[in-house]
Amino acid sequence: MSWEPEIEKLFSITEGEVFERATLDSLFKLMDSGYIDSFEFPISTGKEGSVFRAIYKNKFVAVKIYRINTVTFRNISKYLMYEPPRNVKKNKRSIIFAWALKEFNNLKKMYEAGIRVPKPIAREGNVIVMEYIGTARKPAPLLKDAEIKNPEKIFRRIEGYMEKMYKKVRLVHADLSEYNILVYRGNPVIIDVGQTVSRDNPMALKFLQRDVKNIVKFFSRFMNIDENEILNRILEG
Ligand SMILES: Nc1ncnc2c1ncn2[C@@H]1O[C@H](COP(=O)(O)OP(=O)(O)O)[C@@H](O)[C@H]1O
Ligand SMILES: [Mg+2]
Repeated sequence: MSWEPEIEKLFSITEGEVFERATLDSLFKLMDSGYIDSFEFPISTGKEGSVFRAIYKNKFVAVKIYRINTVTFRNISKYLMYEPPRNVKKNKRSIIFAWALKEFNNLKKMYEAGIRVPKPIAREGNVIVMEYIGTARKPAPLLKDAEIKNPEKIFRRIEGYMEKMYKKVRLVHADLSEYNILVYRGNPVIIDVGQTVSRDNPMALKFLQRDVKNIVKFFSRFMNIDENEILNRILEG
């Protein structure tokens, strides 16, 4: 199979984004091992990476590509500040690979613990293939943009996920907000789990407090919630 048409397509759907050699190699490997058949469109393009919808065996998948070349020092230091990966060479490529691996492993742990996240499928270098969340027509909206019919139910689910993440997976998301939760069929799906910290990390409590604060703030327009009560429930036991 020749990948050129797919890479050309990727080039055109991103309006000319140039992927560095390492990214192309990762994509080729994933296509070779049969995790991606073809790319469709970018779901999101950000400073740190892009997410595409792709097709594998007539099913949709989401492909998250972490940027390597354009990553700035500020971003890199964010990747490393609290939990520097062990045994990783200090060049951008190795650091970003380690970061993608961390997100992939976190997805796996959370998925296995019963926390609703996109099911992780494969990871190669700086690229993650995971379950696509959304319909054939469009990807699931972020919580901030979703039409919310059942705020109480969604809030309780998210609270339960935070608690499970802390108690069972022993991690704190550390970037949880209405920007990193999708709403699919009326239920929350947690995403973007690369920057989690272990609950044993000295910064963990601070991050957990911030996560809880963000979520409580978002939902307090729908209902009355006490931030400390939520935090204590997550921490107790
Ligand atoms: N599995 C997925 N299915 C559908 N859309 C996704 C999926 N993962 C991410 N997205 C979309 O891509 C955007 C960026 O993904 P995210 O993991 O938050 O990366 P970052 O915020 O670092 O760019 C999300 O806001 C969401 O809209
Ligand atoms: Mg995000």
